[in-house]
Amino acid sequence: MSLANTVFVLNGPNLNLLGTREPQVYGSATLDDVHALTAAACATHGFMLDFRQSNHEGELVDWVHEAGRAHAAGTLAGVVLNAGAYTHTSVALHDAIKGTGILLVELHISNVHARESFRHHSYISPVAKAVIAGFGVQGYALAVAGLAALSQPSRA
Ligand code: DQA
Repeated sequence: MSLANTVFVLNGPNLNLLGTREPQVYGSATLDDVHALTAAACATHGFMLDFRQSNHEGELVDWVHEAGRAHAAGTLAGVVLNAGAYTHTSVALHDAIKGTGILLVELHISNVHARESFRHHSYISPVAKAVIAGFGVQGYALAVAGLAALSQPSRA
C-alpha cells in the first residue's frame, strides 16, 4: 500500500442536518450513516478516513490547508469535499484548494444542475479533479472508489 493513503472527507454547512433536512432532496440517511458508508468504502480500498463537518467557512479553509500539509508530506490520497452552499459562494475555498495543489473531488448529494439556477455555478469545480452529483449519499462511496482508481493510474 502506498504511503499516500489518507482520504479527507470534508462536509460543509447544514450537512449535519442530513436525515431531517429536505429528505425529498437529500434522502433519509444521517451524516453518521454517511460516515459509516464512507468508512466501509475506504476500508475496501485500503484508505484511512478522516471525516469531518463544519458550518463555518474558515474552518473548512483551515482543513483544506491541513490536507495540503498532508499532501506535501506524501500521506494524502485525496480530498472529497461537499462544500454545501459554500460551493456557490466561496472564493476563499477556491483559493485554498488552488493554493495547496491537493487532488480533490467535488461532491453533491443532489444533482445541483437540475435545481435552482443559483446552484449551477460552482467555485469548487475549476479547482477539482472530478465532480460527482446526483447519486444521493452513495456518491461518497463513488468518490472514494474514484480516488482509488486515480491512485492506480493503470486502472483509471
Ligand atoms: C449540496 C448542494 C448545495 O447546493 C446545497 O447548498 C447543499 C448540499 C448537495 O450535497 O447536494 O447544502 O452540496
